[in-house]
Amino acid sequence: MYFKARYETLKKTWDDHYFECLGKTSLSKAPADFKDAVYYSLQAGGKRLRPVICLEMSEIYGVEFEAAIKLATALECLHTYSLIHDDLPSMDNDDLRRGMPTSHKKFGEDVAILAGDALQSLSFELVASARGGDHLTEYFAYMVGCAGLIGGQYMDIKTTDDHASDYMEEMHRKKTGYLLALSMVLPFIYQKPDISYVEIEKWGINLGVLFQIVDDILDHTSSKEKLGKSTGKDMAQNKLTYVKIYGIEKSKIMAGLLSESLKNFSQFNTSPFFQNLPLYVLNRES
Ligand code: IPE
Ligand code: IPE
Ligand code: MG
Ligand code: MG
Ligand code: MG
Repeated sequence: MYFKARYETLKKTWDDHYFECLGKTSLSKAPADFKDAVYYSLQAGGKRLRPVICLEMSEIYGVEFEAAIKLATALECLHTYSLIHDDLPSMDNDDLRRGMPTSHKKFGEDVAILAGDALQSLSFELVASARGGDHLTEYFAYMVGCAGLIGGQYMDIKTTDDHASDYMEEMHRKKTGYLLALSMVLPFIYQKPDISYVEIEKWGINLGVLFQIVDDILDHTSSKEKLGKSTGKDMAQNKLTYVKIYGIEKSKIMAGLLSESLKNFSQFNTSPFFQNLPLYVLNRES
């Protein structure tokens, strides 16, 4: 109960502030129609997991509120851009996202590509404007770029039938794990630039792998009404997923074991939010 209430509180905090935060960026200078396209995908909703994690970490480590909101907004902008591009006809070719037509279905592929580009550049603007030092922006770029999210997405689209579990593991870590880890580490570096974040990063990446295993399972077991995105598409597109390699039952067992192993992380033994987060990720239905 504590976890659910806390999650909702953090989500509401971000929902109440991100619009104003973005209003102070260069987005305010965008052509009016284009601004609508950028906001469309952001406002469609979603779980807001990355800003929620960022705000909880910010509170634990004492990041001032305005900077915390900027970092949280940067993470959600980056995530939303990755979804817009992930859905493009040349990538996963999806029609539905967050319960709405995908950006390219609504505005055309040309505008959708630019909306994604805009959200990515806004995320860098926001991180830089939080004034957390050079390493903050450098780390952000590392985690979402070629070494991380983009590299992982490349691995996803270039998978062949010869690729097996070790390739998938790396792909899941990069395409999903790095951004979840970033949501934890960004506020940590902001407040404690001289302290090692290696353990938190490792935990965050594993949480991301858990998140992606569950995403792979839900693609097979859930419905588009529940998820707000189309289902059954991984098999149809011959994607390399946990379900493809291990089947549903074994994937569920592996997800359960991973979630169990993440439960007792000494760094967070005074944080009921982070103690319960793996279980939330494991049992999520959307
Ligand atoms: C979907 O992310 C993409 C993956 C990393 C699997 P989410 O499931 O967090 O999507 P939203 O933000 O709730 O829409
Ligand atoms: C996407 O993974 C991960 C991203 C970095 C966007 P998927 O392709 O499985 O995500 P969904 O299922 O379309 O949300
Ligand atoms: Mg994809
Ligand atoms: Mg996809
Ligand atoms: Mg998926």
